[in-house]
Amino acid sequence: MNKSIEFFDRQFRQAPAEASLRLNPFEAQALPHVHGEVLDFGSGMGNLTFAAAARGCRVTALDGSAAAVAHMQRRAALEGLPVVATQADLSDYPIRQSYDTVVCIGLLMFFDGPTGWRVLGELQRSTRPGGCLVLNVLVQGTTYMDMFDAERHCLFTPEALRQHFAGWRIDSCELADFDAPGQTLKRFCTLIAHKPLNDPAPT
Ligand SMILES: C[S@@+](CC[C@H](N)C(=O)[O-])C[C@H]1O[C@@H](n2cnc3c(N)ncnc32)[C@H](O)[C@@H]1O
Repeated sequence: MNKSIEFFDRQFRQAPAEASLRLNPFEAQALPHVHGEVLDFGSGMGNLTFAAAARGCRVTALDGSAAAVAHMQRRAALEGLPVVATQADLSDYPIRQSYDTVVCIGLLMFFDGPTGWRVLGELQRSTRPGGCLVLNVLVQGTTYMDMFDAERHCLFTPEALRQHFAGWRIDSCELADFDAPGQTLKRFCTLIAHKPLNDPAPT
């Protein structure tokens, strides 16, 4: 298991406090944009997954944490919601179908740079024409490094992210700073974009 999956799996194994089942601010920002068939890529405990399913979406939730996936599978059975949760290492995961909405919150910074860009390209390819991609990631300016492997992380710039969405309609691209231990900073970028209807790339 790699360091980032191990870190979150340990957190998720502790009995989920009620607070950890609430949408975080980025999930709350994403929720109004989800529709149709949804891919929650790096879903964590699936808080957004279940909020989307409760709104009528069919959701595929993927995460590397066995504890998070077991929690989602139990909850889907209990609540009878259309959620399929699967455990996978998402640094090398072939996405085999396309979705109306693709959400990836708080994941890509745990990959090395080439992997981060490649996976972002996969997420873009698997968004249907006219569909929405919600991406949230730590970006340059972040000085809190404790959760990263020295060699296995990446911090994109917001400008490079925007460029990667050339031809898409970018609805918003916002930065948010959060204080972190030792007077450090976490700087997040949340980008919400729609793929053009006439996208020629195969999906
Ligand atoms: C910061 S959490 C975000 C979870 C959720 N999207 C949210 O907003 O609460 C990062 C998630 O990425 C998962 N993760 C990290 N590296 C991964 C990898 N290589 N493959 C699959 N999942 C991974 C962790 O298990 C964790 O659930």
